Amino acid sequence: MMMKKLGFLLQLLVASLVKAEIVSGADEFTRYDFPPGFVFGAATSAYQVEGAANEDGRTPSIMDTWAHSDSVITGGANGDIACDQYHKYKEDVQLMAEMGLDAYRFSISWSRLIPNGRGSVNLKGLQYYNDLINELISHGIEPHVTIHHFDLPQALEDEYGGWISRKIVKDFMEYADICFRMFGDRVKYWTTFNEANIFTMAGYDLGFLPPNRCSSPFGYFNCTRGDSSLEPYLAAHNIILSHASAARLYQKKYQSIQKGYMGLNLLSFYFVPCTNRTEDVIATQRANDFFLGWFVEPLVRGDYPEVMKKNAGSRLPSFTALESQRVKGSYDFFAVNFYSASYVKDNPESLNIEPRDYKADMAMDWKSMQENASSKYTPLPSSEIPLTPWGLQGVLELFKQNYGNPPIFIHENGQRMQRNASLEDWPRIQYLQEHISVLLDTVRNGSNAKGYFTWSFLDVFELLDGFRTGYGLYYVDLDDPELRRYPKLSAEWYSRFLKGGSIAPDGIELEGNWSSLSSAKVMK
Ligand code: FCB
Repeated sequence: MMMKKLGFLLQLLVASLVKAEIVSGADEFTRYDFPPGFVFGAATSAYQVEGAANEDGRTPSIMDTWAHSDSVITGGANGDIACDQYHKYKEDVQLMAEMGLDAYRFSISWSRLIPNGRGSVNLKGLQYYNDLINELISHGIEPHVTIHHFDLPQALEDEYGGWISRKIVKDFMEYADICFRMFGDRVKYWTTFNEANIFTMAGYDLGFLPPNRCSSPFGYFNCTRGDSSLEPYLAAHNIILSHASAARLYQKKYQSIQKGYMGLNLLSFYFVPCTNRTEDVIATQRANDFFLGWFVEPLVRGDYPEVMKKNAGSRLPSFTALESQRVKGSYDFFAVNFYSASYVKDNPESLNIEPRDYKADMAMDWKSMQENASSKYTPLPSSEIPLTPWGLQGVLELFKQNYGNPPIFIHENGQRMQRNASLEDWPRIQYLQEHISVLLDTVRNGSNAKGYFTWSFLDVFELLDGFRTGYGLYYVDLDDPELRRYPKLSAEWYSRFLKGGSIAPDGIELEGNWSSLSSAKVMK
């Protein structure tokens, strides 16, 4: 007991030292302190926001299948209707414009655009995305589009196993080609995959996200199909090759005319050793290699990190010389989602198990610093939510120091709270404020960050909770047949910031008249 307590105190000490070291604390600031062209936006994804899941020719994706079968995580909810953005996009774009968003990050539903996964384009799907993009542009809002946000067409999963088959590379490339051809005259920011690392780990090792593949004893739930030792690596390999093929196609066929940019999105935990023991420090480096290096190093250097090759051995596919050449340099930017920093503890014993899964290959344990807070469905007072904005700085510094300081978009960052708790979401305001403040420090310190999107624009169908929690700036009343949207205080706060209002990093200082969004006064 005593030892446990001591360990915890030590963890706290290490965390506060790291924090003190990297956060310098900006003075009061406005968005104009960021470099010219720095973009502020908000994000959603197709299955989580669109609804109209069975309308106008759309067919199910692996997200639909998962949401309809897994009531443990979703609480029995699904995205059939979600926020109905499919029908309400005009209203939503109007809200975005009133709020002052520079950009909106959304994703295209592959099975809405190409219902069989390959072949004919669904004209109604095409019309929808054209309408949405045009609506955004006519309101001065830049579309940032993700091509795959966890939602492979179920048809391709059924036909050949989706991402674990090499056949997916060609189908993905053709789908991306259609996106570029149809929308690339107006869309300049393309991201091939959302959270490629989480998709492969949660979908193929732990099995709690689609396509729910894992093998015993590694999965979180009963594993009926899959292979946690092999498939995470296989799926990731095919995703990297798919990304590279789409990016090369774009570079060759479209980039000189359309003048856009290609990127890949990853979830970044900022890892901190839980003690200052050398083993934990090395384990932290290994954690970065396994989570980020897994995808970033092939794109930057043309190969996987050495430690992955060593620990996963022949289960990690290798790139041929030609593939390596194709993959290396196949990006204009990286995108990261950041929510919370995590502690890392060395766990060498996990390398003694046979067979091993991807997680055991990492030989470490990790724990999110927000885990206790975020595993509850009840809102916590803001003082009890451990905020780790310095982790965002850590991640950006890591890209700067290890990966050549590429252009980076923060694609997701936001605070999970109980849904419907209240429109007075002060903890979220504090969260956004502290992260944006630290982001400014990091940019001033030479990071090549180009933009920041908060997750999420609306309270969407959430991946880990269904409708029990939300990250939205807007609350969507699910009991109202009209699914009316209501701005939370965070929407007002963000709007004031977007319109030039000033932020004091150490406290919530946007005082004055908190009136309705459209008439909110801007503090100068
Ligand atoms: C990320 C997903 C996103 C959202 C947030 C909370 O992992 O990219 O769709 O659900 O988590």
